[in-house]
Amino acid sequence: MEPLDQGKLPTHLAIIMDGNGRWAQQRMLKRIVGHQRGAETVKMVVEQSSQLGIKYLTLFAFSSENWSRPAIEVRALMTLLKKYIRHETARMMRNNIRYNVIGNRSELPDDVNQTLDEAIQETAANTGMVLTLALSYGGRQEISMAAARLARDITAGVLKHEDVTVDTFSGYLDTGGLPDPDFLIRTSGEMRISNFLLWQLAYTELYFTDINWPDFTINELHKALADFQSRERRFGKTSDQIISTKAYASR
Ligand code: FPP
Repeated sequence: MEPLDQGKLPTHLAIIMDGNGRWAQQRMLKRIVGHQRGAETVKMVVEQSSQLGIKYLTLFAFSSENWSRPAIEVRALMTLLKKYIRHETARMMRNNIRYNVIGNRSELPDDVNQTLDEAIQETAANTGMVLTLALSYGGRQEISMAAARLARDITAGVLKHEDVTVDTFSGYLDTGGLPDPDFLIRTSGEMRISNFLLWQLAYTELYFTDINWPDFTINELHKALADFQSRERRFGKTSDQIISTKAYASR
């Protein structure tokens, strides 16, 4: 396994878990079997990330656009999600992980929302990694809803338009309170962002692998993190500026 530098892990790791359907179809299995195997990968990645000391893990579990899939697949995914959350809460407690959800929860079935509320409540006092599930989530939808909330606050006199900055706007997003992701992994060979965290990914390092999500192993996770560690993050500055800031900080 790739050796990792504990001091250079991403604070916030975001993942687009893609390729469950193709994994199943290549094996003549039903798509839902791919999602079930994908849920096993989720277990491994959650536990590993928390044990490595990653502070925030955000998983794209169901997009706003996924509602247009066949009803049988949507239903099966909702059932799988509910089961996963119910079964995994004990492991979350053992690993001191706190659940969080982003996305349009009003579109989720009541029973899923109830399960989520219970898990969020039960894990609320945990102080380790924050596991954010993006459910019925779309980046454009999130930004437009944030803009609507901000406009409402301006109309109500709670906020002045001249006080609208990048930071104030960020606070109106579903991710308000979370740092922006440092690293994004997308599996299955697609090289798109697909409406995920559009605002928050501005300076995120992107990593694409051909491996389908059910085949994404602990080794693949370490390989991706080692790749992150080899990158120089400049945030618009020059390489020389970054090197001199580091030298100054290590004096
Ligand atoms: C994308 O694969 C994956 C999804 C739409 C769902 C992701 C869900 C899971 C990994 C399992 C349940 C989640 C949790 C958090 C327990 P795809 O179906 O688009 O694959 P394809 O592109 O090959 O068709």
